[in-house]
Amino acid sequence: MGILDGRRALVTGGASGIGRAIVESYVAEGATVVIADRNEMQAERAAGELGAAAAVWVDVADEESVRSAYARAVDALGQVDVLVNSAGIAEESELSDMPLEVWRRTIDIDLTGTFLMCRAAVPAMVSAGGGRIINISSQLGIKGAVALSHYAAAKAGVIALTKSLALEVSRHNVLVNAIAPGPVTTPLVAGMTEEWKAAKMAEIPLGRWGRPEEVAPTAVLLASDPGGNLYLGQTLGPNSGDVMP
Ligand SMILES: NC(=O)c1ccc[n+]([C@@H]2O[C@H](COP(=O)([O-])OP(=O)(O)OC[C@H]3O[C@@H](n4cnc5c(N)ncnc54)[C@H](O)[C@@H]3O)[C@@H](O)[C@H]2O)c1
Repeated sequence: MGILDGRRALVTGGASGIGRAIVESYVAEGATVVIADRNEMQAERAAGELGAAAAVWVDVADEESVRSAYARAVDALGQVDVLVNSAGIAEESELSDMPLEVWRRTIDIDLTGTFLMCRAAVPAMVSAGGGRIINISSQLGIKGAVALSHYAAAKAGVIALTKSLALEVSRHNVLVNAIAPGPVTTPLVAGMTEEWKAAKMAEIPLGRWGRPEEVAPTAVLLASDPGGNLYLGQTLGPNSGDVMP
């Protein structure tokens, strides 16, 4: 018996990193999971390796792509009880010479992508009498970061979106929360400069980065009953002490 037995979950960004670890934990806890990711090959491989029910291609920044991916996920699952929005990008760029397309790409994927996925999920969750939405923000959305103003702004937006949507839909038993991890060893941060990584490491009270499997249990908690039943509009922080709100 797992604590997510019978739950049907859709995880964006589930092909890699934190999303992949969440898929693995959800399957281990008895959930049926669909991975939605723009890296189709990696998503299919992850689905096979982790025992997910299906992988669907999506670009979360594209309205039509989200619509059709969500419909394919519903075909596979019957209904989405839990939506996890983990798809995201981060690319270093100082504000003073940041190209507008870098700003827009980050906002489109990290913030608008979360909005589009939430908008796709909410009506059916309301009709079904409940659901859970878990948005992966970042501690940088709380504290800011050098060379990541676009990313920090998008992630702060995810926290505000999470609170606002929680207020809109909690009376329908749709519980919306965010997780704001600290630095976690994944391909997302592998591309950051050594200088950036060293500066980040120096800031962290725990003295080490997290691993994806150390973030996933927070997503299990938020999806679970009774453990997650009283969380709404919260931002939980498995962050190695990087932010202490
Ligand atoms: N790694 C960290 O240090 C860290 C810290 C805080 C928050 N986060 C957040 O956690 C989430 C997961 O990041 P990660 O570190 O696991 O990164 P990752 O690169 O390992 O995984 C991100 C996944 O998102 C997918 N993706 C990217 N753009 C997409 C799009 N437009 N449509 C669909 N899928 C898309 C990628 O293909 C990839 O599979 C992100 O939202 C990230 O901002 C990461």
